[in-house]
Amino acid sequence: MASTTNWPEKVGILAIEVLFPSQYVDQTELEQFDGASAGKYTIGLGQAKMGFCSDREDVNSLCLTVVSRLLERHHIKHTEIGRLEVGTETIVDKSKSVKSVLMQLFADSGNTDIEGIDTTNACYGGTAALFNAVNWLESSSWDGRYALAVCADIAVYAKGAARPTGGAGAIAMLVGPNAPLVLERGLRATHMEHAYDFYKPDLSSEYPTVDGKLSIQCYLSALDTCYRLYRKKFEKVQPKESSAVSLDKFDAIIFHTPFCKLVQKSVGRLSFNDFLLTSEEKRAAKYPDLERFNNSTLEGTYFDRDLEKAFLTQSAEIFASKTKKSLLLANQVGNMYTPSVYSGLVSLLISEPPESLVDKRIAVFSYGSGLAASMYSIRVTSDAEKFKKFASQLDYVLPLLSSREKVSPEQFSQLMEVREKNNHAAPYTPTGKVGILFPGTYYLKDVDALHRRTYERTPTITNGVH
Ligand code: HMG
Repeated sequence: MASTTNWPEKVGILAIEVLFPSQYVDQTELEQFDGASAGKYTIGLGQAKMGFCSDREDVNSLCLTVVSRLLERHHIKHTEIGRLEVGTETIVDKSKSVKSVLMQLFADSGNTDIEGIDTTNACYGGTAALFNAVNWLESSSWDGRYALAVCADIAVYAKGAARPTGGAGAIAMLVGPNAPLVLERGLRATHMEHAYDFYKPDLSSEYPTVDGKLSIQCYLSALDTCYRLYRKKFEKVQPKESSAVSLDKFDAIIFHTPFCKLVQKSVGRLSFNDFLLTSEEKRAAKYPDLERFNNSTLEGTYFDRDLEKAFLTQSAEIFASKTKKSLLLANQVGNMYTPSVYSGLVSLLISEPPESLVDKRIAVFSYGSGLAASMYSIRVTSDAEKFKKFASQLDYVLPLLSSREKVSPEQFSQLMEVREKNNHAAPYTPTGKVGILFPGTYYLKDVDALHRRTYERTPTITNGVH
């Protein structure tokens, strides 16, 4: 434990744990089942598989599982946690926080001195939780212990165009000083605004109300604003770095991922920003054949197909080298909502050889409808051994991903109906199969007549970790 009297150095992510559902539906099969044209979900949206939860899992169980696994895998004592923040938009109770449910895990240790509760704004809550955790570490309130930032959601849509953009998952991040992944100080750019692009006004339903087209415009315009603000902040904070911020400044760029195709378009969008921010004399050399966009503006181009295509082509190499690998889990699991952008971080860490990320800068864009968005950057430690050890902690992810069970679209649709019918039912005993869950998974045992939820855990394989 670090001393409480010193300003902690290099605050960031010390460990990260990811969780996704043990069952999925195949997007090609879903296209056929939904009567969508072949390729709409797989090529048009860029999605291969969609993870989903039966009525056996809810946001509490996802968080219980991911926090337990992180503490067990990293041998962290329950007494070593001084702050725990949850970011989620999957609300099962309008008053009682998920954080308070997680306190069950700490009961035996006697540690009740843990600050933090839940934060909600669509997919942004996870970033708010992480920022809160970092802020605590960097404040006079810090008592020398670790913080945990937890994000979890079950992303489900009513039947229709949005359903294939569902998913589910959870991420827990252990936050402390001298981290292998450091959040760069002073380099956070935020944009918040009132919008009705995606929201959940019907408290009796799990499904959101979505204006799909508006949501894409809001996402892209928040990206524009955050990028430009990040650029300005960078100039202030890092005046010694010679060149202005462009995509060249980042070794990897990760995004909140509602569906993979939007992220590919987002890289193109950032490239268009770089183009506009390049002086006209230099444009011709750097962006050959794009002079027809010299007078284009950000505002007028969100759905300009010609421009979108031109900058997708222009940024294709950047996408392939800096972003594509971070889409592995998003492509295989779908939109996890709050954990989505952090599943992008995990995907990057498991797809790149660790030595290629040492001392590198990762740009992060987090977006939550309604809307709240931030762009910030993470610096990977220059200590190669430390980073290798950190990255190897994620060796379980790919084998776990390939051990999932495929479920037919018919069964998926039936399980969605069960969730839909019994949302908030009490008393209620779930019917979803327990045997299908991964080892060490918490699941909902029952809900009593007073809506009190009880959880049990599937057996773990070895020393408490699946
Ligand atoms: P849609 O309107 O039915 O789809 O729903 P579409 O007709 O626009 O088609 C999608 C793409 O597939 C198009 O590509 C089609 O051309 C293509 P584009 O032209 O845009 O590049 N396509 C095909 N491609 C190949 N073969 C084919 C074929 N057919 C069509 N046969 C929409 C799409 C995303 C709107 C819908 O799924 C939706 O509403 N999803 C939920 C909202 C969403 O994900 N918004 C994203 C930004 S907002 C956000 O990220 C926040 C969020 O995560 C929530 C939170 O913050 O909590 C959602």
